Amino acid sequence: MAKIQTKNKDAPLRHLAIIMDGNGRWAKAKGWPRLRGHQEGANRVIEIAQACKKLNIPYLSLFAFSTENWQRPAGEVNGLFKLLNEFVQKYLKTLHEDQVRLVISGQLEALPTLTQTLLKDAINATASYQRYTLNICVNYGGQDEIVRAAKKAMHAIQNGVIHEVDLTSKTFHQFLDSAVLPPIDCMVRTSGELRISNFMLYQLAYAELIFVSLYWPDFKEESLFKVLKQYAERKRRFGQV
Ligand code: FPP
Repeated sequence: MAKIQTKNKDAPLRHLAIIMDGNGRWAKAKGWPRLRGHQEGANRVIEIAQACKKLNIPYLSLFAFSTENWQRPAGEVNGLFKLLNEFVQKYLKTLHEDQVRLVISGQLEALPTLTQTLLKDAINATASYQRYTLNICVNYGGQDEIVRAAKKAMHAIQNGVIHEVDLTSKTFHQFLDSAVLPPIDCMVRTSGELRISNFMLYQLAYAELIFVSLYWPDFKEESLFKVLKQYAERKRRFGQV
């Protein structure tokens, strides 16, 4: 399949990012516990990742757990990490088959030990793949990432790895958790909320934003095709006329 282009055919869609919102409301509407919504949401993750492969989109970023999500009830937090563990255990083979590199943005240290081990092993095992990259944001906040990147840049300058004059908005990118991913071309948020919610603030600078009213568990391959039709109608200007 040809790569997805915008109207002015400036550049193919390389990096799609998604705020997977509405799992709780989806479950509530059906009278089910919130975790059931997250379970169904996890099923969509692999479907949408496979759809991106079909559509020739090499980079996919997903917001799975924010630095604020720790404030949710312990049962829900534990349930989310259990789903993440199951996801890695179940799909590691597929990541290898499809040559998908797994990247995690966010601070891993605070996660349950098993989750950390599974994620670190999967990151290492897939590190050499260059065809596709799946970036999952876990214990992630955009401002937190920028602050940590600034500290890394400061240390690099102090240690003479980079000269201060060479630190620009382009070179700063190398200090972000998602350093191996290009800037985001298109960001989708499900559930009808019209916010960025501290998601990949640096990488979103010139992204096209698309908000859909569907809850994430209802966001299927067809919904992605519709979103990408909207993206293809956009004219990207990158601050120019
Ligand atoms: C937002 O919905 C969603 C989350 C906080 C978690 C997203 C997690 C998954 C889709 C499943 C696990 C992820 C992977 C990568 C396997 P919400 O709970 O805030 O919904 P609400 O706004 O309707 O309450």
